[in-house]
Amino acid sequence: MIAIAIDGPAGAGKSTIARAIAREMSFIYVDTGALYRAIGLYMIKNRIDDDELIVSSLNKIKVDLKFVDNEQKIFLCGSEVSGEIRTPEVSMMASRVSAILAVREFLLDLQRDLAQKNNVIMDGRDIGTVILPDADVKIFLTASLEKRTDRRYKEMLEKGLNVTYDGILNDIKKRDYDDSHRKVAPLKPAADAVVVDTSEYNLEESINLVLDVIKKKLS
Ligand code: DC
Repeated sequence: MIAIAIDGPAGAGKSTIARAIAREMSFIYVDTGALYRAIGLYMIKNRIDDDELIVSSLNKIKVDLKFVDNEQKIFLCGSEVSGEIRTPEVSMMASRVSAILAVREFLLDLQRDLAQKNNVIMDGRDIGTVILPDADVKIFLTASLEKRTDRRYKEMLEKGLNVTYDGILNDIKKRDYDDSHRKVAPLKPAADAVVVDTSEYNLEESINLVLDVIKKKLS
């Protein structure tokens, strides 16, 4: 099996680029952020906001990923939540729960199993460093804070969400800081990752840049 790991900060374009490449290569695209978002959503719905309670409620949670035409759908305790997890509130809670070791351990086997059974392109924060340290290709995808905020802001507006530019900017800043400064599995490029900065490139150019890296590594 072939595994491609893409890590990077919020809004770097990981999911859009990984999805396009997965389609081109007939791999499955695994968006691991959705797993932390589902746990975050559970905590919001059940009004749980205490580390110990978060950990003790994990045994009540069932998270499943299904792939329909190579497209990921996420289920929380049997109900599909693929759309519901894409709000700024869930983003912040996902980042919060993701700093807890027990939450990361809870989601570890699911991620590794997928990579054992399928050719995957998997995106997240710790794929190249912790989840798939032996991945065939590791990419750290990044872009300036301004570009990432612009892209995320437009995406949210297109979905009809009531957001402000400054709100998104502050959320991304806080998430970047928290995700890269936590003790467990912090966001950072793996020693053997290729860093790709997409600040100056449009989507098509960015996809081609990443594809070039993948083709070189796999050849
Ligand atoms: O990729 P995303 O924005 O959907 O991720 C939401 C949060 O989940 C992110 O702020 C940090 C956490 N996360 C993580 O800790 N490890 C991953 N592999 C993916 C996401």
